[in-house]
Amino acid sequence: MANFRSTRCQLFCAFQLLLLLQTQVTCYRYKVGDLDAWGVPTSANRHVYTNWSNKHQFRAGDSLWFLYPPSQDSVIQVTEEAFNTCNLKDPILYMNDGNSLFNITSPGKLYFTSGVPGHCEKLQKLEISVLFANGSALPPSYDTSALPATSPAYPTVFGSIPAASSAALPLQSFSASIAAGVGLAIALICGGM
Ligand SMILES: *[C@@H]1O[C@H](CO)[C@@H](O)[C@H](O)[C@H]1NC(C)=O
Ligand SMILES: *[C@@H]1O[C@H](CO)[C@@H](O)[C@H](O)[C@H]1NC(C)=O
Ligand SMILES: *[C@@H]1O[C@H](CO)[C@@H](O)[C@H](O)[C@H]1NC(C)=O
Repeated sequence: MANFRSTRCQLFCAFQLLLLLQTQVTCYRYKVGDLDAWGVPTSANRHVYTNWSNKHQFRAGDSLWFLYPPSQDSVIQVTEEAFNTCNLKDPILYMNDGNSLFNITSPGKLYFTSGVPGHCEKLQKLEISVLFANGSALPPSYDTSALPATSPAYPTVFGSIPAASSAALPLQSFSASIAAGVGLAIALICGGM
């Protein structure tokens, strides 16, 4: 009982902190797949990543957090063509530390899948539409041939994005520019739910 109450209190404090931070900072860290994290979808939930992606609105400055067992999986960013054909060769970005943060830096489409052969075919793949700064979205079925399929992931732009995003639910999101320690504390609290 006491445990339950103190957890509630911690959650409440974390929530307050997030509200506070969100008045100044509007970048979000999204945990890909939520509770399912990053892995081969189960047969009961084959469209987990499509559904997850449709549920959120992503903007430049946000980040995608992929969690998976590093010995069994990885994340690669690929072109649209490679995404559609499950071509794992020459990915744009390869991450395999099990706890990978991808920083979204520009609007358009982003494509991810697993670097492990066979996983892409089993629908472990994620397509993200990043909104323009003015809030315009690309329609879900937008033909991306007119746009560069990818954007470089490198510059870390947290804290410098003037945006007014209210896209994510506070408890599913993180202010990306919080000091790492605070972020970790909140992650632990939320992860403990
Ligand atoms: C996920 O998406 C698929 C197809 O897009 C749909 O059939 C299914 O009902 C969705 N599941 C949930 C839980 O929304
Ligand atoms: C995204 O930003 C975080 C925090 O600044 C950094 O640790 C991480 O390596 C970045 N990710 C990529 C793919 O550059
Ligand atoms: C938003 O910005 C994009 C890219 O600059 C532009 O193509 C689009 O027309 C803009 N939408 C609105 C509603 O201003």
